[in-house]
Amino acid sequence: MPNAAARLAALPPYPLAHIPQKKRELVARGIDVIDLGAGDADLAPPPAAVEVLAAAAREPAMSRYGFGLGYPPFREAVAAFMQRRFGHRFDPVTETLPLIGSKEGLSHLALAYAGEGDTTIIPDPGYNAYRGGTQLAGAEPYMYAITPRTDFLIDLDEVPADVLKRAKILYLNYPNNPTGAVAPKAYLERVVRRCRELDILLVYDNAYSEMTFDGYVAPSIFDIDGARDVALEFHSFSKTFNMTGWRCAFAVGDAKLIAPLVKVKSFTDTGQFMPIQRAAVAALETSASWLPGNLDVFRERRDAAVRAFADAGFTTVSPRATMYLWIPLPDGVPSAAFADALMEAGVVVLPGAGLGAGGEGFFRVSFITSPARIEEAAKRAGKVLDEMRQRA
Ligand SMILES: Cc1ncc(COP(=O)(O)O)c(C=O)c1O
Repeated sequence: MPNAAARLAALPPYPLAHIPQKKRELVARGIDVIDLGAGDADLAPPPAAVEVLAAAAREPAMSRYGFGLGYPPFREAVAAFMQRRFGHRFDPVTETLPLIGSKEGLSHLALAYAGEGDTTIIPDPGYNAYRGGTQLAGAEPYMYAITPRTDFLIDLDEVPADVLKRAKILYLNYPNNPTGAVAPKAYLERVVRRCRELDILLVYDNAYSEMTFDGYVAPSIFDIDGARDVALEFHSFSKTFNMTGWRCAFAVGDAKLIAPLVKVKSFTDTGQFMPIQRAAVAALETSASWLPGNLDVFRERRDAAVRAFADAGFTTVSPRATMYLWIPLPDGVPSAAFADALMEAGVVVLPGAGLGAGGEGFFRVSFITSPARIEEAAKRAGKVLDEMRQRA
């Protein structure tokens, strides 16, 4: 039987991959399952997007290949969004790039910039596509443990000199999955300066830029002087618009920095379904009226989650952004064992270690369902933790 490539064996199983099957088994056993695992809300996308998608799907011309260019009004809407929201101008044709979800772009990016002998610097815990893309490209990931010690920020001064010398990409994601941390402007200025000095591509994953609360407004990396020379920024429709399954996202940045990714994609895909791109335009164009109501729902869920997990005996911090609580576990309670035990009680959470060894000692709760269900989940989690402590 043919063997899979060695680089695949070097990758761990994807942390969420087994959950749908496991959930089916639990449901078959009659267990009431509350899924707070993936960042995948149970809410509806903007109605305008759904209507446009349905109508566009009936037009034969919209069923043809989008190719790399995609649906040109999508690029124009993206450029208009970047201008309106952050005040930065991008050329729609050369400085914006439609993606089939930002995971697709983020994971393909390493193929464009890193290879044998190179390193990439990755937040640990962090979104697994950074590591996956790096290893599939034959490069070596350098995992930097982001912890409360550095406010969940990567301090490049702590990265060994030989790693920095070989580094081609630094992945940053603020607002951060899974910790909910945000990055101060002074930090971003320092990082941009260092990336310019070291000639490292700064990949700024801004998937949660619009999912913010309490008056916090997330920046673009392009707010920082000099960022255009070293940075690409990734945005997604998944979280902002409850459109996870649609697979629609974009990258923006200088044409010369985007071009290598355009080339990789020209060999690996032929563009997102154009009706989805047209629907995404509608989502962007109606966002001013639609987004605030959606964020109200998430804020209510966040507040319920913070309260309920605190009442259940956990230490909680209310995040100013994202859809996640990053909750510490008591010493001696391994995150995987806790998540497995909680799964048997019908609650899906993500063990911190599933997002990288640096995530050990924490678990992630996605506040993606109703306050009542979150409260029930927190009660079960408190009970499971008590039982584990008694046994320890
Ligand atoms: C930090 C981060 N980046 C990117 C993504 C991927 O989003 P998309 O659905 O656009 O692939 C996620 C999804 O969870 C994420 O948390």
